[in-house]
Amino acid sequence: MDSLSRHEDYGSLPLEEADMVANPFDQFATWLKDAEEFGIYEPNAMVLGTIDDNGRPTARTVLLKGLDTGFQFATNYLSRKGHALDGEPAVTAVFGWYKMHRQVIIEGNAEKVTPDESSEYFATRPRGSQVAAWASEQSRPIESRAAIEDKFDDAEERFAGEADVPRPPHWGGYRIVPSRIEFWKGRSNRMHDRIVYTRDGDSWAVERLQP
Ligand SMILES: Cc1cc2nc3c(=O)[nH]c(=O)nc-3n(C[C@H](O)[C@H](O)[C@H](O)COP(=O)(O)O)c2cc1C
Repeated sequence: MDSLSRHEDYGSLPLEEADMVANPFDQFATWLKDAEEFGIYEPNAMVLGTIDDNGRPTARTVLLKGLDTGFQFATNYLSRKGHALDGEPAVTAVFGWYKMHRQVIIEGNAEKVTPDESSEYFATRPRGSQVAAWASEQSRPIESRAAIEDKFDDAEERFAGEADVPRPPHWGGYRIVPSRIEFWKGRSNRMHDRIVYTRDGDSWAVERLQP
């Protein structure tokens, strides 16, 4: 496969400590905006890694849905990831903006947002997504496509007379409260830049790592 032997030159544009702001959330917000403006497809997609009951890592993509004291995403609390997070809140999340030669790696703990926060976000979702949240027991097996479509139709029928679809109790947000955030910028000769923020009490320590 050609892609396995490709060695792209990531250019020489540097990532300098002097260009990085003291608060990594602000730095992240700037990079996310850059990714949006660059035209990255789904710039808010992150690969979320969790640890299951057997201590094994599992990963999947979720979308960043809010940025405040942490990185928020929404999902089914009874899904495979939800069960993993019930037992072990430690997570990692990776944003790969490859066309920009940029990557951000977050490590921290995921905690559920408040029910009110979940409901507020759920209310902004398209009705079809809201119905699907009732229809799908995320991560559980189902015998066929037709069977899950039947479940969707049943849920649609259930809420047909209602102006608003309520939030299912099993659906909501998590906030990843980070302890470490790494900003990576590809450079020529694999001499990449890596700047890491590590939580240090109320502030952040900043270090450069070898590529
Ligand atoms: C681009 C993209 C965005 C996704 N966003 C979400 C999301 O925000 N929430 C979610 O629960 N699943 C999302 N998914 C589906 C998940 O990757 C995954 O299939 C699902 O959450 C079940 O994961 P689990 O069985 O590990 O719990 C997304 C998938 C892709 C490819």
